[in-house]
Amino acid sequence: MRKSNVKLVEEMSGYYKYKKKQWKKILKAGENIAKITEKVRIKYAKPEDSRYEEQMKIMQVEAEKMAEIAKDKDKVGALEDQQWQVRRLRQTCAICHKHLKIHIYPNLYKKKNGG
Ligand code: HEC
Repeated sequence: MRKSNVKLVEEMSGYYKYKKKQWKKILKAGENIAKITEKVRIKYAKPEDSRYEEQMKIMQVEAEKMAEIAKDKDKVGALEDQQWQVRRLRQTCAICHKHLKIHIYPNLYKKKNGG
């Protein structure tokens, strides 16, 4: 999973209001994550591990939803929907990594500057 897209969305998920440019970035991030996940699902399939397969599928769906929300950004409540969606996506990351006992978060947040 590419870090840059995810980090970007995470950083922006706390913003009060997304600016036009940021919505565009979220749209791209959602589309990219969905696309990458689709490839990874095929290339690194684990048919014997149903939990993994399930989470992989969920991740793709959640990323697709993220892009959908960004496309319809002028809708009432789109911001709240997107914040919820980002949380759902992050949860999927955590569930699968925990399931596989992967600890990536110290790495992912290593370069955070001052909070
Ligand atoms: C269905 C399982 C699954 C889901 C969901 C998942 N990952 Fe992963 N992730 C993995 C596996 C497998 C590895 C590879 C670990 C290894 O190299 O042994 C990995 C590795 C990583 C790495 C470290 C390797 C690298 O490329 O730098 C990062 C960062 C990462 N994942 C981020 C994420 C993020 C962010 C999400 C959510 C958007 C996510 N992952 C969702 C299974 C998953």
